[in-house]
Amino acid sequence: MASQDKQDAITLLTEDHRTVEGLFEQFEQASDSQKKEQIARQICTELKVHALLEEEIFYPALRGKIDDDDIDEALVEHDGAKLLINEIEASGAEARFFEAKVKVLQEQIEHHVKEEEQESDNIFSQARNTEVDLQMLGQQMAARKAELMQIAGTGASRPRRPRRWRPHDGIGPKKNRDPDRDRRRLRGRHRLSGEPAPHQRRR
Ligand SMILES: [Fe+2]
Ligand SMILES: [Fe+2]
Repeated sequence: MASQDKQDAITLLTEDHRTVEGLFEQFEQASDSQKKEQIARQICTELKVHALLEEEIFYPALRGKIDDDDIDEALVEHDGAKLLINEIEASGAEARFFEAKVKVLQEQIEHHVKEEEQESDNIFSQARNTEVDLQMLGQQMAARKAELMQIAGTGASRPRRPRRWRPHDGIGPKKNRDPDRDRRRLRGRHRLSGEPAPHQRRR
């Protein structure tokens, strides 16, 4: 495996995809419910951090340089996955439909990964044909990933309570990071891409 500081953005994201695929396999093979729950939580954390990296750094860097419709579709697919992630994290392995939800999440992610890295004219191959500095982007993403993983790890040691994760809100990277805000982004529910913001809703 390439050392983190030498990974370009696509290598980093591709490795994340393989990691999650491996975890889904482990989930399938696990026989006791406690183990399944632990792996499912790990899958959710990996996916949340991965999606944030793409939404904050990778997709915005490509916006206007590759087919924007592909980015929009990817963001909507992220939102779809987040609904299931929220439900999986809020329940336990004994809950009805727990395994079915993880299975459907796996299918959604497999479809999404194909569009990012396997189908013809996929997002990653389009990205390689741009002028975007993928090496620099990779360094930025590796640093951000370490930060988000640390925040996610801190959260795991807190008392357990139902956690919901907010889907993509369409904003780009922020210069002044607020760890509390990141914690909320990893743990709190938020509106979907197409949903009106709270101040736009009719009372
Ligand atoms: Fe991805
Ligand atoms: Fe993605």
